[in-house]
Amino acid sequence: MKKKAYIETYGCQMNVNDTEVIFSILADAGYERTEKMEEADLVMANTCSIRDNAEQRIWGRIEVFHQLRKAKPGLIVGIVGCMAERLKDKLLDTHKVDLVVGPDAYRSLPRLLDAIGPDSPQIDVFLSRDETYADITPVRTDRNGISAFISIMRGCNNVCSYCVVPYTRGAERSRDAASIVREACDVYQKGYKEVTLLGQNVDSYLWKSGTETVTFAGLLEKVAGIAPDLRVRFATSHPKDISDEVIYTMARHKNICKHIHLPVQSGSSRMLEIMRRKYDREWYLERVAKIREVMPDCGLTTDVIAGFCTETLQDHEDTLSLMETVGFDWAFMFAYSDRPGTLANRTMKDDVPADEKNRRLNEIIQLQNRKSLERYRAQIGRKVEVLIEGPSKRDPGMLCGRASNNMMCVFPAQGRSAGTYTEVEVTDCTSATLICK
Ligand code: SAH
Ligand code: SF4
Ligand code: F3S
Repeated sequence: MKKKAYIETYGCQMNVNDTEVIFSILADAGYERTEKMEEADLVMANTCSIRDNAEQRIWGRIEVFHQLRKAKPGLIVGIVGCMAERLKDKLLDTHKVDLVVGPDAYRSLPRLLDAIGPDSPQIDVFLSRDETYADITPVRTDRNGISAFISIMRGCNNVCSYCVVPYTRGAERSRDAASIVREACDVYQKGYKEVTLLGQNVDSYLWKSGTETVTFAGLLEKVAGIAPDLRVRFATSHPKDISDEVIYTMARHKNICKHIHLPVQSGSSRMLEIMRRKYDREWYLERVAKIREVMPDCGLTTDVIAGFCTETLQDHEDTLSLMETVGFDWAFMFAYSDRPGTLANRTMKDDVPADEKNRRLNEIIQLQNRKSLERYRAQIGRKVEVLIEGPSKRDPGMLCGRASNNMMCVFPAQGRSAGTYTEVEVTDCTSATLICK
């Protein structure tokens, strides 16, 4: 009988795709996927280190896994992903897990699993310069078979001073363009209607083979060319790198969705400088203006950090005014969390008190909620094409699906089914959903 593996995934979309890669590798070691923790022979968490609260949650899960192991001797408890990379031995020595594997070492899982014994936990946190898992076909874990994640690169070469990712994921490397196109064709043939190309900074994607050089714009072109009814999305774009060529390529192809996630982090040029983002407020606003000039209906979303080291009230006001000026559709908003080992942690003081960080964060959230409602309201009366994802979570009598600009739409089913396109008219909205007929 096959053994069963259960994996909980935390963190970004790249981690979701990594879990799919892990299931594929585990299949070679005789494990099949289960969604029931109780029936598993191997339980793992694919972890995230981006903020302290992300790690705190996982310490709690490890306790739960240990309880399970007490009741089921022989159960293997594994920690993989960014926290495995960052905390290595602490997980083995203090927290007594059986298996610790970093983001570039998943190919060694079968060997490590073989070697695990009652007193011999296993670890591999080697960071690679060239691993992209290009030849591995991920075991899809999405529920509807409509939208698939495809990683196009790994790691990150930017060293934003607050960020732990370069340390947990290693250097940036791009994946073979042909293998990306092959994977996209493969999911399309399996009935998928949407692919999301993933990387920490997709704009710096670069693949060279022989005489051919493929940039991110070139890759978009190739993937968009697979089929007119295969939607293409991507994340994340970096404001310093998003090129006119990418913007024009998006505009040229109807099936490249008109949505850009463009994390700004702060509206203050002084903050951006010490965050080492390598752009300033003016540069960011110019990129937004260019996007809107070429694609007036493009959805625009962002990430914002409140209370980074030395942030003054004026810096904070600059963030609020930038958000007011741009009018994002929505945003991920965070209080700054000091991460051990980062440049900020080593050389700057985390000097904005916690309650002040939270006060600023709340102001940012309130402003964004107001802006989101404005942006969604502006859609009322429009007709948009949606890719139907399935029944709406709130009201199973209704269907839901995203517009090209990534806004979620709900509408009456009327005999239509998931995985098809339909045109709907926006009649009402909340700050996160378009209500349509
Ligand atoms: N590669 C992407 C972001 C990846 S991390 C980019 O460059 O934009 C996702 C988001 O987490 C970041 O955009 C940032 O807003 C947030 N983040 C990263 N480190 C953080 C920290 N130490 N404290 C709070 N938020 C952080
Ligand atoms: Fe982190 Fe900056 Fe790389 Fe994004 S670009 S992953 S924020 S270091
Ligand atoms: Fe978290 Fe690692 Fe992604 S730190 S955000 S899981 S790259």
